[in-house]
Amino acid sequence: MCGIVGYTGEKAALTPVLEGLRRLEYRGYDSAGVALTTTKGEKLFVEKKAGKLANLEAELNDSHDNSHSGIGHTRWATHGGPTDSNAHPHLSNDGKLAVIHNGIIENYLELRAELEKRGHKFTSETDTESVAHLLSDAVTKNGGDLAAAMRAVCNELRGSFTLLAIHSDSPERIVGARRNSPLVVGVGKGENFLASDVSAFISYTKSALELGQDEVVDVTPSGVIVTNLAGKVITPRAYEITWDASAAERGGYPHFMLKEIFEQPKSIADTLLGRFTENSQIAIGELDNLPELLSAERILILACGTAYHAGLIGKYAIETWAKIPVDVELASEFRYRDPVLTKKTVVITISQSGETMDTLMAARHAKSLGAKVISICNTNGSTIPRESDAVIYTHAGPEIAVASTKALITQIIATALIALYIADKNGALKPSEVSGLIEELLALPAKVEQILETAEPLREMSRGFKDATSVLFLGRHVGYPAALEGALKLKELAYMHAEGFAGGELKHGPIALIESGTPVIAIMPPQRSELREKMASNIQEVRARGANVIVIADSETVIPADVHVIRIPVSNQLLQPILAIVPLQIFAYEMAVARGSDVDQPRNLAKSVTVE
Ligand code: F6R
Repeated sequence: MCGIVGYTGEKAALTPVLEGLRRLEYRGYDSAGVALTTTKGEKLFVEKKAGKLANLEAELNDSHDNSHSGIGHTRWATHGGPTDSNAHPHLSNDGKLAVIHNGIIENYLELRAELEKRGHKFTSETDTESVAHLLSDAVTKNGGDLAAAMRAVCNELRGSFTLLAIHSDSPERIVGARRNSPLVVGVGKGENFLASDVSAFISYTKSALELGQDEVVDVTPSGVIVTNLAGKVITPRAYEITWDASAAERGGYPHFMLKEIFEQPKSIADTLLGRFTENSQIAIGELDNLPELLSAERILILACGTAYHAGLIGKYAIETWAKIPVDVELASEFRYRDPVLTKKTVVITISQSGETMDTLMAARHAKSLGAKVISICNTNGSTIPRESDAVIYTHAGPEIAVASTKALITQIIATALIALYIADKNGALKPSEVSGLIEELLALPAKVEQILETAEPLREMSRGFKDATSVLFLGRHVGYPAALEGALKLKELAYMHAEGFAGGELKHGPIALIESGTPVIAIMPPQRSELREKMASNIQEVRARGANVIVIADSETVIPADVHVIRIPVSNQLLQPILAIVPLQIFAYEMAVARGSDVDQPRNLAKSVTVE
């Protein structure tokens, strides 16, 4: 999870490195650090500081105009606490080589013991520092060739890593490597970049190169050479980034999260774009080469966190429209059991980043068991789509806030598109039913817009709940995973106890939590649903025990008296979570602001969870 950036070119390197770190800070913010090459053969300039990037910037009172190559790191701590000494970069004992790392080196203890025997002095508790010492020995053994040294070292490492290294004997060179963690190259004119994600260099170049598993990249201002670990030269896939720097800016909003909530109508429209033919058929060319999907006897969705909730919601549409049984499982649980997958099981992974380690490992596990894997992903060229048999990209644009909002909404859209694709091709739905549902999907951007335009009373009401100690969320059917999502958002943003329950489960235990004034947010099924009355009874049950109830209901649904009401537009029931979740996002956002928490960078979290 850590953010990594490197620059080599004519500019004073500190500027693009710090700009990159600002854009990557969402990946981790326990500490930050930079290393710059100075004069050939001299010690590197290094500064690193515990805490957010601002702490590091406060220490940097020189622009280092003569340093044209450098690396920077923003950390989400795994091995060793968030201290100055554990902050990256980590150095060789002669101060001439610096390394930054994202991931976990699993055999670091053995390596460290061996290196200490050889006389290396360690100054941190990290797994990364072993790499700095190993590399410095390997550079000597390989006649000063940093890329050859990196290949040799990678062959000794176990675990997952993106590594960047610089050495003062080759001051214009940055060498990187990746295994299971992300690394992309930004190709400029007379300058080149390396980063965990393209947002780090988007204001300098839109040309990028994708790096594969176990590849080493040797970057100078005039060239990029990619090799595998045996030293064979590889031609990386080049691509153009389709969004610009403004997409990765706050654009006048106080927080990225609020901006991203308000971008949801566009994200939905962009994800739907090009998905329908003129005669109202679903067009997902990416799936046309995967006949296994249409003959699947079971679909298994694997994901983590908020993306898992998208899967839980998508299950209803796939089962109802495509008539294929769907199981949804947490990727972290799937990998470590002995799942039964037949050739007739198709796996769908859902991941905004495409880098979540648990999801990646689960996808590999599923493939090793013979299943075809389709990924739903928001990040072009990331690892999970690269390794999948087919990919459907969501077009949410860059999601910077740690809490996922617009990515989730587009993930639900993608599952609905897959459901309709199968139903259309297999004839599980009539053409008129398919075209009716297409109309429903196309109406969603305007409906979300309507919720956002009328959100002011909700925003004010939400702030009024700021002193609550616990909030419960109730839903039934597709409203249940929406309730889980509402609770997750509140936990991660407002740091308060929150739980989502299925309405029917209330009487089996959770109702004991209700006391006078407990806020309960209930998602009401539509008027025509047989579950409306059941949820109305649940609301009465918690009201009778003193709960302070907020009901999210569409504009035609009758609701019990004596509750707060948030109205959303009427929609197909299976698509209702797309609308119902928006007020839940706003509720969590306002509670977080009112309680003074850091909305875009909640404590202890990082956006891309690239460790297991
Ligand atoms: C919560 C949140 C996380 C992510 C989860 C999976 O708001 O953002 O729960 O959904 O870490 O991340 P991706 O989708 O990148 O695999």
